[in-house]
Amino acid sequence: MSAEIIQSASKSHKVIVFALNSVLANEYLLFNKTLNYHWNITGPNFQGQHTFLGEHYKQILVIMDDVAERVRVLDERPNITIKSMFSRSEGKDNQEKSPSSENMFRNLLRDHTDIQSQLKEIIAETKTFMHDPGSSDLLTSVLLKHEKMSWMIRSHIT
Ligand SMILES: [Fe+2]
Repeated sequence: MSAEIIQSASKSHKVIVFALNSVLANEYLLFNKTLNYHWNITGPNFQGQHTFLGEHYKQILVIMDDVAERVRVLDERPNITIKSMFSRSEGKDNQEKSPSSENMFRNLLRDHTDIQSQLKEIIAETKTFMHDPGSSDLLTSVLLKHEKMSWMIRSHIT
């Protein structure tokens, strides 16, 4: 392997690890927000919505675990401190004090949509430039999960 290829692979490796840690940070924030809403939602549909949000935070936790372990597969460290996650999260933790259930679902849909955009950008890069089909496949499966969760969240918005 030429020095140029090795150098390029090493650069790609750093970029994908940075991207995975950025996804992890955004997943963490969405996990936190979904869990808070699971606890705090009120209204006539409480039981169904509380259970629904409980299912979603558990799905997001599985996603976080998969993404973090992919970073380990790549022989790097997932960025797991709260401080570092919030600093990578582009200031998205702007939670209202007591949103209505309707606004909770709108906020969640916005965050799921933002993560999908981020994932699509990274997937395009990994396919075109980084020759990392493993990370690309993992992130595609994460994208599919967010698309499905978004459909379900949209169905709660009138
Ligand atoms: Fe619970």
